[in-house]
Amino acid sequence: SQRKQIDETLAPFKLSLQHLQDVKDKMRVELERGLKKDTHHSASVKMLPSYVCGTPDGTERGKFLALDLGGTNFRVRLVKIYSGLRKSIRMYDKIYTIPLEIMQGTGEELFDHIVQCISDFLDYMGMKNARLPLGFTFSFPCRQAGIDKGSLVSWTKGFKATDCEGQDVVDMLREAMKRRNDFDLDIVALVNDTVGTMMTCAYEDPNCEIGLIVGTGCNVCYMEEMRNIETVEGEDGRMCVNTEWGGFGGNDCIEFIRTKFDREVDEGSLNQGKQRYEKMTSGMYLGEIVRQILIDLTKRGLLFRGQISERLRTMGIFEIKFLSQIESDRLALLQVRGILQQLGLDSTCDDSIIVKEVCGVVSRRAAQICGAGMAAVTDKIRENRGLEQLDITVGVDGTLYKLHPHFSKVLKETVKDLAPQCDVTFMLSEDGSGKGAALITAVAQSLHSHT
Ligand code: BG6
Ligand code: GLC
Repeated sequence: SQRKQIDETLAPFKLSLQHLQDVKDKMRVELERGLKKDTHHSASVKMLPSYVCGTPDGTERGKFLALDLGGTNFRVRLVKIYSGLRKSIRMYDKIYTIPLEIMQGTGEELFDHIVQCISDFLDYMGMKNARLPLGFTFSFPCRQAGIDKGSLVSWTKGFKATDCEGQDVVDMLREAMKRRNDFDLDIVALVNDTVGTMMTCAYEDPNCEIGLIVGTGCNVCYMEEMRNIETVEGEDGRMCVNTEWGGFGGNDCIEFIRTKFDREVDEGSLNQGKQRYEKMTSGMYLGEIVRQILIDLTKRGLLFRGQISERLRTMGIFEIKFLSQIESDRLALLQVRGILQQLGLDSTCDDSIIVKEVCGVVSRRAAQICGAGMAAVTDKIRENRGLEQLDITVGVDGTLYKLHPHFSKVLKETVKDLAPQCDVTFMLSEDGSGKGAALITAVAQSLHSHT
């Protein structure tokens, strides 16, 4: 029957507690491998040192520029930080778009475009001559050799500009500023968005020592013991590590949960074979998984009267905001049909029930395996510190986490089930990662001026 066929198709998405436990254990193995000198080259989780060695203490101050590249929006922001009795942060920002042909053009074009946006912002603020310190949130894997140096390991998500991989991104930004030659800035810090988000939240809550992004991409950073980071000199204190856990599974260790639909999504992506965990957990790909399932069901005559429309063949139609609406419990089925109509898909009432169910299993699996990964991280921190029970806050940002009606609840439940010895609080970052990038810049700059 139709019901049976649909159930069978969706069954591989329904993970048991044992599956999730296995995901957690495998994540733990990869976290360790990424930290070790002998194994970090082949680890699927890169564990990149951030050179951020502590969270804010409230003494940070000054005026900074923050760039935020790699999420849904490209932002330029002025951040003013006050310390002491006036401890507070004020921000002014502008959002710019990065056209697709620039995301996938040449590196020079991309950085020229960024610099043009900064120039526009400085004009707008009337600050062309200020020579401000700049914190650059760059949401891609960078192998850093210091707080202001880092080469791009590989593009992820929707970016694929040429001649950037292996290059120092700070140098590329500096060169583009030189080419334009109409303002000058001090690039002080290069920051991953997870690290910026952790710092933003840590400014309010010192217990925040993990940063999580569940948006276009999916990634985590956390405070690791220096003695465990074999790729950096020094034994004392802690450093924030950008795990780049989106790459988890690149060595086939999560094939047991991947479905044929995940493989199809991978084949249609810009980075085949890479970022396998990210492709099961983040906003850029969940809609694609849904679309692949719907195509399959339609081909088998179980949906849309067996007619595959041009729209259904179109990549990227199921944006996160639509998935979130479809899954909202406040929406009647008639409204779900309305959304599908908006997307150009003609549905019957039965169709809309099936579509909603498909969206549900895909997003639930995403939240569960993200939770399994998080449980591995919190348990590692707990063991690092020799604690029976760990109390910790995770700073979170990203459109999937923020817009989806059930994602955060399922994520939290999973962490609770898989890491019962950790008491984990999730704290939304209301201000993006730019505030955190400015705080990091403030610290880096004051260290600089004291030496
Ligand atoms: C923003 C942060 O708020 O969230 C960015 O400032 C981050 O640094 C982004 O990349 C992630 O969310 P999304 O959904 O825009 O990719
Ligand atoms: C991708 C990037 C990573 C970033 C994440 C969230 O996984 O590789 O650096 O943190 O997306 O934006």
